[in-house]
Amino acid sequence: MTGVSAAAEHTRTVVVGITGGIAAYKAVGVVRDLVTRGHDVHVVPTEGALRFVGLPTLEALSRNPVTTSVWDDVAEVRHVALGRRADLVVIAPATADALARMAAGLAGDLLGTTLLATEAPVVVAPAMHPQMWEHPATRANVETLRARGVRFVGPVVGALTGDDAGIGRMSEPRDIVEAALAVLDQPDRPDDAGLTTGAAPSLPSGDLRGVRVLVTAGGTREPVDPVRFVGNRSSGRQGVAFAADAAARGAAVTLVAANVDAGLTADLGVEVVPVGSALELADAVRAAAEDADVVVMTAAVADYRPTEVHAEKLKKDAQGDHLTLELVRNPDVLAELVANRRSGQIIVGFAAETEPDRAARIALGRAKIARKPADLLVVNHVGWSSGFEREENAIEVLSPGGEVVRETSGTKAEVAAAVLDLVATALA
Ligand code: CTP
Repeated sequence: MTGVSAAAEHTRTVVVGITGGIAAYKAVGVVRDLVTRGHDVHVVPTEGALRFVGLPTLEALSRNPVTTSVWDDVAEVRHVALGRRADLVVIAPATADALARMAAGLAGDLLGTTLLATEAPVVVAPAMHPQMWEHPATRANVETLRARGVRFVGPVVGALTGDDAGIGRMSEPRDIVEAALAVLDQPDRPDDAGLTTGAAPSLPSGDLRGVRVLVTAGGTREPVDPVRFVGNRSSGRQGVAFAADAAARGAAVTLVAANVDAGLTADLGVEVVPVGSALELADAVRAAAEDADVVVMTAAVADYRPTEVHAEKLKKDAQGDHLTLELVRNPDVLAELVANRRSGQIIVGFAAETEPDRAARIALGRAKIARKPADLLVVNHVGWSSGFEREENAIEVLSPGGEVVRETSGTKAEVAAAVLDLVATALA
């Protein structure tokens, strides 16, 4: 009761679009929850949705007339009126077909026209089988919609229709409602750590709730003397995006940050362990990995460090025209983690490769995961003008057997979300 009266002070007009999947029966819970919280709810089901849930149920629960057709209330220009009046549009469930229609801007029914007529935030809760969710066509549609500002809640890993389980289950009605209303409370919510280029990040799906995730980010600096180091161009943005997305999914996150700009980690709300060199990173990771359920090794760890670290600044007068630095191998932290992996622990490695040819790059990745058998290896195309210090990334994800299980490009937040979907599936 308290929830009703408190929320009723901020009554919003919410359009709930229901599309034709078995999870439509759970959308009834979304409608009911929104009405209970005092909102003015208008349900727009597709014809397919009405095969799963009855129109009278939706009218009774929403306390408003329900129609699927643009030919009803023509004088009122219903599709435009609804879209204009809406403070928020929630699509639950969103089938693969619904996402494709939204991405294409199709307006063949009342839901399609309403979506084109609205300027309100749109939150979608996808529900489909894992193969459909992972299909490149669906991935492309999701990326298009995210880039347009559509927010996603879920899908989560769980039981699906039939005997199978995996990524694709619709989030629980309460999680959908809370995530959707949170968008209204924070219309200017920055995307993951302010790193992306306007694309909407995942909303908390809760699929890593209670999971302890260790992420390494940045690039190590191997000291030469008190003022110089041997380093690399990694900014830490990809690792920060992993930490942000894992935290948004409910994980307890430790971020071992190698020389990452403090501004990037300041508002993450995760435990940050700053480190400098590869040896420091190795120590921090060894300590934190003991408790971690998942380790994501995005950090660019130097393979070598100067054999000798000079206590005083090297003077060129003492060196002459040539200076030779002798380097020694650093411990391979990922290889150590894999060798000491606890049962059930998921380890994700990264392979930064400059090879432009996809097949050749994947072959390099296959050799790497054979050498260091992580649970997933994210092959990352880097170069003078790609990968580093940028907001976008392009990846192929390999399984221990060398199969490409995911391929995507987009903002670093989107890349992190794609990989963490696979991690959540693996944990399940
Ligand atoms: N890594 C690590 N410790 C190192 C070097 C790398 O833990 N000393 C980790 C990185 O964090 C990354 C993965 O290993 O997750 C891949 O590192 P990379 O240097 O790209 O691959 P290598 O196996 O060292 O192969 P190569 O140098 O031939 O590219």
